[in-house]
Amino acid sequence: MGTRHVRRRVPRWSELRPLVRVEAPAWRAGARVGRAASIADLRLIARRRVPRAVFDYVDGAAESEVSLARARAAFGRVEFRPRVLRDVADPDLTTTLLGRPASMPVVLAPTGFTRMMHHDGEHAVAAAAAAAGVPYTLSTMGTVTPEELDGGDRWFQLYLWRDRGAAKDLVTRAKASGYRALMLTVDTPVSGARLRDVRNGLTIPPNLTLRTMAGIARHPRWWFNLLTTPPLRFASLSSTDGALADLVDRVFDPRATIADLEWLRDTWKGPLIVKGIQSAADAVRVVDAGADAVVVSNHGGRQLDRAPTPLEELPAVAAAVGGRAEVYVDGGVLTGADVAAAVGLGARACLVGRAYLYGLMAGGEAGVTRALDLLRADLRRTLALLGLRDPGQLGPDSVRLR
Ligand SMILES: Cc1cc2nc3c(=O)[nH]c(=O)nc-3n(C[C@H](O)[C@H](O)[C@H](O)COP(=O)(O)O)c2cc1C
Repeated sequence: MGTRHVRRRVPRWSELRPLVRVEAPAWRAGARVGRAASIADLRLIARRRVPRAVFDYVDGAAESEVSLARARAAFGRVEFRPRVLRDVADPDLTTTLLGRPASMPVVLAPTGFTRMMHHDGEHAVAAAAAAAGVPYTLSTMGTVTPEELDGGDRWFQLYLWRDRGAAKDLVTRAKASGYRALMLTVDTPVSGARLRDVRNGLTIPPNLTLRTMAGIARHPRWWFNLLTTPPLRFASLSSTDGALADLVDRVFDPRATIADLEWLRDTWKGPLIVKGIQSAADAVRVVDAGADAVVVSNHGGRQLDRAPTPLEELPAVAAAVGGRAEVYVDGGVLTGADVAAAVGLGARACLVGRAYLYGLMAGGEAGVTRALDLLRADLRRTLALLGLRDPGQLGPDSVRLR
């Protein structure tokens, strides 16, 4: 056996210099989130940036969190079927949502208490959405009023309150402030059991208990921002005093029926979306009652645990609705490839919740922008690798569930 002869030498600085990259520490949020290669990375940054109870409020789901795990797992069942040797040099990701162009088939979902995740809250999310050219949905449980928020294509999410007069006032205010579409959430006759929140003793606004005081030492910047900006409150509820449970009981109405949707259809003349559809039969019922779009959703697994998995339910809903209304889906979307999969299985667009909230917690508006940039880059790459140029070409030929 011969010994391989290796001659060693000391490298010259002129050879090393082009290889050396000295990175400044990422003090600025923009720099920090700019290095995230995926939304999963933004999630890890977020976990370090905010108190545990806040992170868990976003990251968690109801009961044993089976619905959420299944929603994510369903994207693992997707099989993409590429075609090759097609010119894919100039992809066009744009689409039309309820009659208005969007830069990609993505909508930012309504999420409550957004200013708890970052003190810029809804303002940061709406600004990032407007710059990215996608709609943003303000929640009824938002921490700014509809009037306070500027932005591009703004939609407003409503829970059917017990007090229909108050619901009507809110809808009228949303209309007057330029919100284009109304999204009624129907999977919430009562609130789900979010066990992480119970265990963390999460209260809204966060209480200054001994335990939370200890958290202040670990997340001084978050607490400083919380305590030096306007108090956290459910800005759209006329009276915010009282315990959270009482508030939620006033906002969710277990007696709501399809007649209430018909009432809302008469009240709101613009595009009407019903969110929280979990069967083809209900999709048909709400479209018959006048919905212009439905969202196949189980509230990100935060309501009924072990509910149907949205991505799996989607093809049947799309077939049943058959072009009479737009069909959106949400739950577990964390990449642009997930968006491509959902569109291929029949969705006009995906709503994303946690994907942008991880960005928000990680770095405010810059973090939301990073999340949207990542979704867009993934979607563009996935389309090219599939041999397609625009999301409208996605379908059963290119996407199937194994
Ligand atoms: C922190 C948080 C708050 C939410 N608040 C609301 C809400 O106020 N109204 C609503 O209709 N849906 C709400 N949702 C559900 C989202 O609109 C959306 O259906 C869900 O987040 C989609 O799943 P994903 O987070 O995996 O993308 C919330 C979700 C999260 C994570």
